[in-house]
Order: sequence, then C-alpha cells, then structure tokens
Amino acid sequence: MNEVTPVEQSAVAAVDPSCARAPVGMLCELTHRCPLQCPYCSNPTDLERVATELTTEEWQSVMRQAGELGILQVHLSGGEPTVRKDLEEILEAAVKAGLYTNLITAGVTINRERLMKLAEIGLDHVQLSIQDVDSENADRISAYKGGLAKKIEVSQWTKEAGMALTINAPIHRQNIHNVPRMIEFAIECGAGRIEIAHVQYYAWALLNRGSLMPTRESFMTAAKQVEEAREKYKGIIVIDMVVPDYYAKFPKPCMGGWAKQILNVTPQGRVLPCHAAESITHLTFDNVKDRPLADIWLNGDAFNKYRGTEWMKEPCRTCPRKEIDFGGCRCQAFALTGDATNTDPACSLSPMHDEWAKVAEVESHSTPPDFIYRRVGGAKVTVGGAKEPVPGE
Ligand code: SF4
Ligand code: FES
Repeated sequence: MNEVTPVEQSAVAAVDPSCARAPVGMLCELTHRCPLQCPYCSNPTDLERVATELTTEEWQSVMRQAGELGILQVHLSGGEPTVRKDLEEILEAAVKAGLYTNLITAGVTINRERLMKLAEIGLDHVQLSIQDVDSENADRISAYKGGLAKKIEVSQWTKEAGMALTINAPIHRQNIHNVPRMIEFAIECGAGRIEIAHVQYYAWALLNRGSLMPTRESFMTAAKQVEEAREKYKGIIVIDMVVPDYYAKFPKPCMGGWAKQILNVTPQGRVLPCHAAESITHLTFDNVKDRPLADIWLNGDAFNKYRGTEWMKEPCRTCPRKEIDFGGCRCQAFALTGDATNTDPACSLSPMHDEWAKVAEVESHSTPPDFIYRRVGGAKVTVGGAKEPVPGE
C-alpha cells in the first residue's frame, strides 16, 4: 500500500508557492470498461484492460491519501464505474476519508437496490449522462439499446434516495437541435443542475470531429436557447454550458489551470494533471503504486511542467488574460501545434487560430462520416479515416 501519514507527506512534499496546497477535486477513472460506445468519450483511444486495474485496496489507499492531502471532492468515474463490483468498498473509503462523493455514470448497469446501498454508504451526488432525449438517436449515438428508459429510472431512484442529481448532456452536431428538450428532461428528472457540454475535441472526439462538429449557426441557436432557458427556469435548475472551442474568441481555462485544481487517476493508477495529459507524449507520469499522492501532486514532473505561468511563450507571456485562462488547453496546443507551450489555437491571438477555425467551418458543413465507436481496437483508422477491420467485430 502507498498510504502516507500527514507527517510523511510533509516530509516528501516541499510546498511550491505557485500551486494550491491541495487540489479541490480528484477524478478517479475506476475502469475503462463501459457498455456504451459513445464516439466522443474522453477516455484515451488506447483503453486500459481490466487485468491491469488497481485493486480494491489500492483504490482505498488512494481515497485515504486524498483525504489526508486535503482534497475535497472525488468523482468516481470510468468508463462506467458501476461495473466494478467493489464500488461499494471504494466509496466507503472515500466517505471515511471525508470526501464529497460524486458518481459519474451512464446509469444503464445499476439497479435500484444497489443505488440505495450506495446512498446508504454515503454517496452525495449522482451525475447521470444522457446521449439524447430522442431514444432512437440516443441508442444510435451510444451503440446501446434502451438506455434512455433506464436513465429515467435511475434519476427517480436518485431523488428517492435523497441524493443530488446533475444531468450531463454532451452535445454535438447530431443532437444539438434538442437542447431545449434536454433542459426540460432534466427538470422532469428532478435534477438541480444540467451541464450542456459541447464535446471537446480530444481522444475519441478528435477522431470523430467530422461527425460531431456543429455549424456555427446551430451553436449560436443553442447558446440563445440556453440563455432563454436560464431566464425561464431561474431558481428551478442551474444550467451550465461549455462552448465548443472552435467557435470561441478565447480558450477555456482548461482544468482551471494545469496542476492547479484537479488531478486524475487512471484505472492503472497513473496520476495525471488532466484526463488527456498522456496525449502529450514527452511527459512521464507517476503511479500511486510507486509514490505517495501528495508527493506526485506537489513534485511530480508532469505536474510541474506547465504549472503557473513561467513556461509560457508569447503571446500568452505578456497577455493580461494569462491568469484567467492559463493559455488554454495544453493537450490541445500539443495535438494541434506539436508544442504544448504554444498558445492554444482556440485563442484568437494564436497565429494558428484562423486556419484552425476554418476546419470547423468546413467539417460542420460537410456530410458527416460514420461514427468510429469507442471500443477496444476501435481507434485503429487509416490515414484517410476509414476503419480498419478490427478482430472480433
Ligand atoms: Fe489566453 Fe494566451 Fe490567448 Fe492571452 S494569448 S487570451 S493568455 S491563450
Ligand atoms: Fe489536458 Fe486541457 S485536456 S490541459
């Protein structure tokens, strides 16, 4: 086990003044297994196998270390976290560690009895994802039949158990026309919050960008609909919206700043500053099996690489927004420019911005290609984008 006492932690962890003493949140990808195959999944395209996942005891140790470090919230995620048979034991450790617990689930693999048990253990919050409110389209997007009906049941059980509920609605070209209905759906489910989250183009979503990118016009329509709904449903539901980078003037402060607010633990135990950090190929990551969580957070190479603002080049270095958006997304800068210290091309001040924004205009007005579904081996594509045959399909 890698558990460390607070004394050991302070011995290994020389406090860097440019970072908070502890992250606010920890995203735990308990597994990459999932019965759904959404083509915008934020998991890496190279999915981790079940045999390499952390054990129950190792996850429990992570929870204890998180509590000792001062982390406030844990997000139990995946893949689909409920496919882990030991979810209850992991949750119990998180509750004992004093963490606020959020279960991020697609809701199709859990029954009433199990959800009630999780509530009894101390689960605080359920974040339930939907693919669409049109059930046929939802089935097509997730490559899973009958998911929507199951999600409605899960929302009812969540309220019955007295837990807080958020509906997570990733939107894109193929469901953006249903934004007003999604908000109504969330209200009917009794959710206190809905996240209308435009797909962010990393990992699977980057592979599927041509099928997912909405037109600027449809994005503007959805943004207006959200504004109207915020007014109409004030005091009833909180509506958060994540805008597509390609149509923004300035980038989002990705992760609230690199190594500033959250950390991410993969199914194998690697600790990342963000869920897509492994796409930055020159970074190396520590594992909770080898090094205490606090030490990784404070002193890990990958965490310190882009922490603060010292690493920035122009135009970010002298920009008045550098403490607001932290130069955007390091993973996107690396994926699109080959250098993670470059300004995110989502920023209108980036020399690459115009060329990059054109991609969205062209792709969103072209015929969408078929989805490349999220599955083991599913990301093997030829340069032209056509799927290679995958054994077993
Ligand atoms: Fe943000 Fe850099 Fe663009 Fe300034 S130049 S707005 S810091 S990304
Ligand atoms: Fe990695 Fe934005 S997704 S920094």
